[in-house]
Amino acid sequence: MTTPVIRVGVIGAGYVGSALVGLLLDEARHDALVDAATATLEVVAVAVRDLDKPHPGVPASLLTTDAAGLAASGDIDILVELAGGLEPTRAYIESALSRGVSVVTANKALMAERGTSLARLGHEHGADLFYEAAVGGAVPILRALRTSLAGERIERVMGIVNGTTNFILSQMTTEGSDYETALAEAKARGYAEADPTADVEGFDAAAKVLILASLAFGTELRDERISRQGISGIRTVDVEFARRAGYVIKLLGVAERVGEHGLSRRVHPAMVPVDHPLAAVHGPMNAVFVEGAISGPLMWLGEGAGGAPTATAVLGDVLDAARNRVSGRHDVPFMVDDTLVRVSAGDLPSVYYISLDVADEPGVLASVASVFGKHRVSIQSMEQFGVGTEARLSFVTHHALARDVDATIEELAKIESVDSVGACIRVIDGGNP
Ligand SMILES: NC(=O)c1ccc[n+]([C@@H]2O[C@H](COP(=O)([O-])OP(=O)(O)OC[C@H]3O[C@@H](n4cnc5c(N)ncnc54)[C@H](OP(=O)(O)O)[C@@H]3O)[C@@H](O)[C@H]2O)c1
Repeated sequence: MTTPVIRVGVIGAGYVGSALVGLLLDEARHDALVDAATATLEVVAVAVRDLDKPHPGVPASLLTTDAAGLAASGDIDILVELAGGLEPTRAYIESALSRGVSVVTANKALMAERGTSLARLGHEHGADLFYEAAVGGAVPILRALRTSLAGERIERVMGIVNGTTNFILSQMTTEGSDYETALAEAKARGYAEADPTADVEGFDAAAKVLILASLAFGTELRDERISRQGISGIRTVDVEFARRAGYVIKLLGVAERVGEHGLSRRVHPAMVPVDHPLAAVHGPMNAVFVEGAISGPLMWLGEGAGGAPTATAVLGDVLDAARNRVSGRHDVPFMVDDTLVRVSAGDLPSVYYISLDVADEPGVLASVASVFGKHRVSIQSMEQFGVGTEARLSFVTHHALARDVDATIEELAKIESVDSVGACIRVIDGGNP
């Protein structure tokens, strides 16, 4: 019997694309790839923007600048999109799917914004749309949610899904660095972009939470905004307080059921107890912690970024798509549960840590405490440090609604003797963020 040939077109030969092409062309892997794909994979072309730039590991004979032509070609079975960005990549992917060409991508931004409509388009035309590498890099969490846990009722997904912020927070925890120094170190090591906004303000994590939630709970991927708080306001004093109290600060992406029909999706820093599995995730690593009704707690951990690790996840999708083409089937990579109602983050109770810098003078504590009381935020514990004529107050609240905590902070900021309101961080209490 002759081995079928599956023709693969790749758009993008940057960090991930060139690593993927290297894996696909690796002679030492050839037989294993044929076995896994049930076909010979033939790379027909690799589209880039600029032919003069170095594209290590990609033979010049494969390079083209005609990405649109490659996507529209009737001559490929699988299109791998590793260019990134929303446009023109959306158009390329639509063009391929509407011709029945399966698509593999690592593009979290595009999947978070258009994932469901693109998957439907593929489904209508008998094509797969796989995007394992869009969340957690090499960590195979999406396929686990889509297949192994398909019959489980997921209660909560909680992840460290941004390596840049986890590296910065780890540096602040283990080296005692302040935020600016830790960010500079992240840039120096290539973990942070020159403009780190998407990472440090939680935009990147929010896209990943939307994708995780779509597979865990059946929400649609269609350009939604979710509650998002980044890490740029976290100070050394907060990290030190967390350590004394038995916590580490992590940026978490959370998607969880609230009651029978509610769903909350959000990104925020949280104080994680040191004995929680997520507390042990250091440096740029990613991890996703899933709580299933029957399975109980599960966790995936690994390299969340980097060209080569990410390319392994892309390769897994290519092999899956190739096997499907050979057997004449395709997956339905989405399910929709429209009974779930979005619960606003403001309506959720949590324990909070709040820090304030105040003038060290009589009566300040009483006026601060009265603001907490006015907004029904009850104080569990308080710590005071004198710093010259200033004092730093650190509060841990009992469970309080986020909107009441926000109102408290807004009013505290207006008190004359309050110099500044520092961080306001949720505390994981009894497993609940
Ligand atoms: N890097 C990671 O660790 C990582 C991890 C997870 C997911 N991802 C995702 O993987 C994707 C690729 O990331 P990357 O880091 O490999 O990006 P990258 O290094 O910036 O590479 C992008 C590649 O795409 C090409 N390109 C961009 N726009 C194009 C267009 N319109 N037409 C043709 N080619 C185009 C570029 O061409 P030139 O070379 O000519 O400029 C370059 O080769 C992104 O969606 C990213 O979010 C990356």
